[in-house]
Order: sequence, then structure tokens, then C-alpha cells
Amino acid sequence: EKDGYDTFMMKEIHQQPSVVADTLRGRIDDNGHITLDEVRLSEQDFRDIDKVFIVACGTSYHAGLVTKYALEHWTRLPCEVELASEFRYRDPVLDRSTLVIAISQSGETMDTLMALRHARTQKARVLSISNTVGSTIPRESDAVLYTRAGIEVSVASTKAFLTQLAACYLVALHIAQMRGVMYADEVADVVASLTAMPDKIQEVLDGSDQITELAAQMATSHRVLFIGRHVGYPVALEGALKLKEIAYIEAEGFAAGELKHGPISLIETGTPVIAMVPSPAGRSLLHDKMISNMQEVKARGARLIAIAEEGDDVTAAHADHTIYVPKSPTLLAPLLTTVPLQRLAVEYAGALGNDIDQPRNLAKSVTVE
Ligand code: M6R
Repeated sequence: EKDGYDTFMMKEIHQQPSVVADTLRGRIDDNGHITLDEVRLSEQDFRDIDKVFIVACGTSYHAGLVTKYALEHWTRLPCEVELASEFRYRDPVLDRSTLVIAISQSGETMDTLMALRHARTQKARVLSISNTVGSTIPRESDAVLYTRAGIEVSVASTKAFLTQLAACYLVALHIAQMRGVMYADEVADVVASLTAMPDKIQEVLDGSDQITELAAQMATSHRVLFIGRHVGYPVALEGALKLKEIAYIEAEGFAAGELKHGPISLIETGTPVIAMVPSPAGRSLLHDKMISNMQEVKARGARLIAIAEEGDDVTAAHADHTIYVPKSPTLLAPLLTTVPLQRLAVEYAGALGNDIDQPRNLAKSVTVE
């Protein structure tokens, strides 16, 4: 049942091109518009919203963080993302015009469920994004969009994350369309890029064998840092979480701009730093900033591994090792840049001889608060 892979986690990583295609299937019409009829909220419901909260835990929270960038950009609605366990206990300002998006692979995470219940008592509308049909979180929501990743066995989440991203992009575009803030052809442009992503994820997987050797070299380090900006920041957090969960090493993700405000003191000679480099397209300011952050860590002796876009020679000139992913619009790039980090965690944990599918102290579904 592992289809020839050594672990479920590897199998699930390799299923990502097809499950992301499944998430999108039937939800886009021939004109490139989003058709989420299954989400039972009317056009008027979407027009009435004046702010969005996303609540989730762990990897699902990271999907929420990526969504914030896309949702605010496309819909122009303010969006806050919060750990479900914090949201519930701080008296957030919610009312009828608040949309709360609860993201949960299992649909049973107690922290997320309690956040959702709290939101409903405050009259907010709740839309859930879940992988588990008929689970508690979708049942208690006003509307649901299923991610269709199939059963995820590995405790460390991979394919569920990518499908959550795809589902969240659909929801954000749907809201933008419903509220009339994006022209039809603008939506269609993004949709065309989105539907091209499964093939690009496959390209990343096809080129990821180099990661085995890289992980073997790194597996002597007791600490690994991940840095990123914009959507690269949540991807850095997700890469660090994967490494913590299955390799049991100190792995931290930082917003690259925060390095100089503290975390840079963690860097010793040879500390691996993995940098999520944004696309240099249009001589992006973000790209320039990331290059300076890379220089800062390099000057402190870091061993710098960059995840960059194909053809980005500037990054390659600064990094000790560069892993390329295909070109894509910045907001959609996490569907690609996460994949080498998942592979890295598997290889790293494998080199240490850890149980990859069943890491110590963790359960697949956390049904206690
Ligand atoms: O089922 P959920 O998406 O609600 O689960 C949330 C987290 O417990 C989950 O993402 C956890 O962080 C994973 N083990 C991460 O790989």
C-alpha cells in the first residue's frame, strides 16, 4: 500500500501533482471562472463580509498564513490568521459580517473546533476547508470546501497542505469574483496559472534527487534555520515544522527581515540556513532584500541553501547550493517551494534512522484542547 515507496510520507509527497489537480477539478468552468456551487454561501453573503479570520493549527495554520497574502491581494478584504488555540481565548472582535475560515485536514482538531464554535456564538459565518468528508468541523460550519487529498497516513502533513493551499486559492478567487473586485479576465489569468501547477509540482519532484546528498551532508547539524519573506515566510515555517516533527532537531523559520533583530545570533560556522528566494521577475524589491539577507547570514558563516526560481543566477552566485523550482506567479509559488523542504525532512530523518511516518510524541489527529 506504500506503492513501492519506503514510507507513506514519500508516497504522499509524490501524490501531490494528482491530488492538487483533484482539488481544482470541476471547480473551474470553461471560461476560467471559479464555480464553487458546493460552498453554500450566496453572492450576497460574500458581499456582506467586511473582514476575514483564518483559524487553524500546525501545518494548516501555515496554509492560512499563505492564504492571507493571496486573499488580501485579490479580495482587498482585511484578513487575520490566528492559531486556533489562541483565537478562542482572547475575545476577538467578530460579528455577522465576519467570515471565519477554519482549515483542518482531519476536521476533528479540538482547538480548531472550539475556535469555530466560539465564532458561531458571535454570529460570524464559518467556512471550513477540510480533507475529511462528514467530520465534525465541516458539519458544524455554514459551508465547506473539501480538499480531496485522499487519506493522509503520515503524521507529518504534506499532500494535505498543498491541497489546502489550492482550495484556499479557489476560495479567495471566488470571493474576489463574487464581490466584483477582480475582472473576469484577471481571475481567468490566475486560474490558468493555478491549473498549470500540478505539472510544475511534478517537475520539482522529478528534480529532487539532489536533496538526498544534501540531507546526508546536513544531518550532522543540530540546528537548521529557514528564512523567507512574503509567502516565503510561512513556507519557511512549514519547512522548519517538518524537520522538527520527524528529524527531532532544532529547526526554526524566520521572516528574513527579523534576522537582525535577534535570530542572527544563532548562526555559527556551518549552520545550515535555507532561504526561500522570491522570483526576481520585474527586478523585484523583495528579491533584492532577500539577497541582502543571504549576504548577512553568509558573512556569519552560514552554509546557505537557496530555494529559487529557475534562471535566478544572482541567487546561485550567493548560495552554497541552489535548488531550482519552475517559474510561477509569486502568490502561487508555495505550491512548488514547499516540496523540496518536505523531501529534505524525509531524507534528513531517514539519515538519522528515525521512524518517518510515526514520529515520537505525535498523533495524526489532535482531539484534545
Ligand atoms: O487535522 P488538522 O489540519 O486540523 O491538524 C492540524 C495540525 O495538528 C497538523 O497540521 C500538524 O501540525 C501536522 N502533524 C503537521 O505536519
